[in-house]
Amino acid sequence: MKKVIISMMVVFAFALVAYAAATGPATIDLAQKFEVAAPTKKAVQFPHATHQGKLQCVDCHMTDKGGALKNQKTGAALELKGVKGMKNAAHDDFCWACHVEKKVPQGKSCTKCHK
Ligand code: HEC
Ligand code: HEC
Ligand code: HEC
Repeated sequence: MKKVIISMMVVFAFALVAYAAATGPATIDLAQKFEVAAPTKKAVQFPHATHQGKLQCVDCHMTDKGGALKNQKTGAALELKGVKGMKNAAHDDFCWACHVEKKVPQGKSCTKCHK
């Protein structure tokens, strides 16, 4: 009996690790990810898990496994590397576009994301 329980726990632990790997990190440093070279604002610590709980993977990614991000305005794949300045694609084509559409409270307030 004990052996059965232990092997079940091992299987469960592996399943958890596999699940975490498949859904990506719970929080993601986007200044690092989007290669912000000369930051003027605090790096965005993106609450990935929180969003996953409210939305479908394909609302943000091109596939339900993650991978390339989706431009919220055109639905095409979005490359976000070397983000700089206020008028950037991370704001206009991704985060802000959805926050406005979904009427997220303070969805464009600087300190909601840069904190
Ligand atoms: C609100 C938008 C959003 C939703 C919903 C979302 N993601 Fe993500 N995801 C991101 C962002 C932003 C990143 C970080 C940027 C990147 O990796 O290109 C990311 C990163 C990832 C990564 C890590 C990629 C890497 O290179 O390390 C995986 C894996 C992933 N997501 C899978 C998923 C899966 C599976 C779902 C659905 C269960 C999901 N995501 C839902 C926005 C989202
Ligand atoms: C496809 C839609 C979508 C995209 C894209 C999106 N968000 Fe959100 N975001 C939401 C929704 C919906 C909520 C509200 C969740 C709730 O009900 O509290 C939210 C809430 C948040 C919150 C508050 C979370 C909390 O704990 O209260 C932060 C911070 C945030 N988003 C940051 C970002 C950043 C940074 C990006 C871009 C990298 C982004 N979001 C892209 C839909 C989106
Ligand atoms: C919904 C989330 C969100 C909100 C709200 C937001 N930003 Fe951003 N911003 C981002 C993301 C994501 C990046 C790219 C990653 C990073 O810089 O951490 C970024 C990058 C930037 C950059 C370029 C990088 C840098 O540090 O210089 C500036 C400037 C900026 N934001 C200014 C602002 C200002 C000013 C406001 C308020 C008017 C604001 N942002 C509101 C998500 C947001």
